[in-house]
Amino acid sequence: MKVLVVGSGGREHTLVWKIAQSKLVEKIYCAPGNGGIGELAECVDIAADDIKGLLNFALDNSIDLTVVGPEVPLSLGIADCFEEKGMRIFGPGGKGAMLESSKAFSKDFMIRNKIPTAAYKVYYEPEEAKFELDGFGYPVVIKADGLAAGKGVIIAQNREDAISAIDDILTVKKFGDAGSRIIVEEFLVGKEASILAFVDGKVAAPMVSAQDYKRALDNDGGLNTGGMGAVSPAFYYDDKTTAIVERDIIQRTVDALKAEDICYKGVLYFGIMITEKGPKVLEYNTRFGDPETEVVLLRLESDLVEIMNSVIDGKLGAQKIQWKVEQAVCVVMASGGYPEHYEKGYEIKGLDKAAKIDGVTVFHAGTKKVSDRIVTSGGRVLVVSAIAKDFNLAREKAYKAIGDIGFEKAHYRRDIGRM
Ligand code: AMP
Ligand code: GLY
Repeated sequence: MKVLVVGSGGREHTLVWKIAQSKLVEKIYCAPGNGGIGELAECVDIAADDIKGLLNFALDNSIDLTVVGPEVPLSLGIADCFEEKGMRIFGPGGKGAMLESSKAFSKDFMIRNKIPTAAYKVYYEPEEAKFELDGFGYPVVIKADGLAAGKGVIIAQNREDAISAIDDILTVKKFGDAGSRIIVEEFLVGKEASILAFVDGKVAAPMVSAQDYKRALDNDGGLNTGGMGAVSPAFYYDDKTTAIVERDIIQRTVDALKAEDICYKGVLYFGIMITEKGPKVLEYNTRFGDPETEVVLLRLESDLVEIMNSVIDGKLGAQKIQWKVEQAVCVVMASGGYPEHYEKGYEIKGLDKAAKIDGVTVFHAGTKKVSDRIVTSGGRVLVVSAIAKDFNLAREKAYKAIGDIGFEKAHYRRDIGRM
C-alpha cells in the first residue's frame, strides 16, 4: 500500500513511524512533514489545510490510504472530499469534526444525549454573559467556540478576569471568527485523563489511557501549551472509572453519532475530568492527541494500518488490537520562550546518541532539515519518548536521552511522569 500522512508535528512523526512498521505498507508520503519524518517518508510540500492540493496529490500518486493528523483539514471537510472521489481516508467528515471545531455544537450534543459534562451556556452578547456570570461561581471557564489552536480556553479565577476574557473573545475578537460566540462553563475539580478510541461508525475500540501535561513549567506552573509531555497509562484511570467511561461516555457518544446520522470513522479523543461525582467530558477532539499519541502508539503491539483499514471498512468489531503492558513517558523539548515568543533555526545535536538508548524513540515536532543538519523550526521541537517496564525506568531513559540532546535555549519540564 501507498500511504499519505497529513501534518507536520510529533503526532505525525509517530504515525509515520508506526505505519512504517506495517507489513502492508510499501511507501509513505507525508505532507508537509518535518526533519525527522523525512527519514521514514517522502515529504511533499503541500500544506495540511490545502485540501485540493492533497486530493490531487493522492489521486495522481494512487494513494491507497490517507491518514489525517490535525483538526483543521478535518474541519474543512477533507474526508468528505476524498470519499467523494472514492479515496480511502482515515478521519471523520466535516459534520463529525464539529465535535471539536465547535464547542457549542459538542456541548449541545452531549446534553442532548445525556453524556456527562460540565454545566454551561452559550453567549453571543458580552453584556448578557457578564450579567449571568456570577451564577456559575468562581473559578469559571470561558471558551471560544471555534478552533483556536488550544488557546481558546480561559480559566478565570474571579469576576474581573472573566470579564476581560469575555471582552477579549467577543469584543476584541482575539481569536477572530473562532470567537463569534463563547461558552461559559462550570469549573470542574478532579484529575484529567485522555482516552482515545478508534471508531468505525458503530463500534468503538478504546486505546490505552494517557495523560498530558499542558502547562509550560514544572508543577503545572506557567502558561497553557499544546502539551509538554505525557504518560500512558493515566495515573488515576482505575478499572471502575474505565467501566463508567466506556459505557456512559464512549459507547453513548458512538450510539448518539449513529442515531444523529453522523458517520464517524477515525479516532475520537475524550478529554475526561475524573470528578467526585464521576468522570465528565471536558472536550472531544476528532483526531489523535498530541503528545498523547507518542506514548499510546509506543504501546501498540498490533499493526496500525490493519486497524485503520478495519475502521474504514466498518469491521472494527472483528479486529484484534493488542497493547504492551509496559509504561511510556514522553517529554517535550521546546524552544525557550514557548508558548509565547521564541526563536528558530538552532542546530540540534546528539540525536543519534539519544536514539541508541534502549526503549527510546525521539519524535520530531518542530524541526527542519537544512543540508545535512537538523535545526529547530517550531515551539515544540522534539518529543523524547521512552517505554520500559515501569514509569520510573521510562522516565529515567527519557531524561537520559534529553541529556544527550542539545540546542540553544532548549526548555523542558523536569517533572513529567511523576504523579
Ligand atoms: P479543552 O480544550 O476544553 O480541553 O480545555 C483545555 C484545558 O482546560 C483542559 O484540559 C482542562 O485542563 C481545562 N478545562 C477545560 N474545561 C474545564 C472545566 N470545565 N473545568 C476545569 N478545567 C477545565
Ligand atoms: N493534547 C491535547 C490535544 O491534542 O489536543
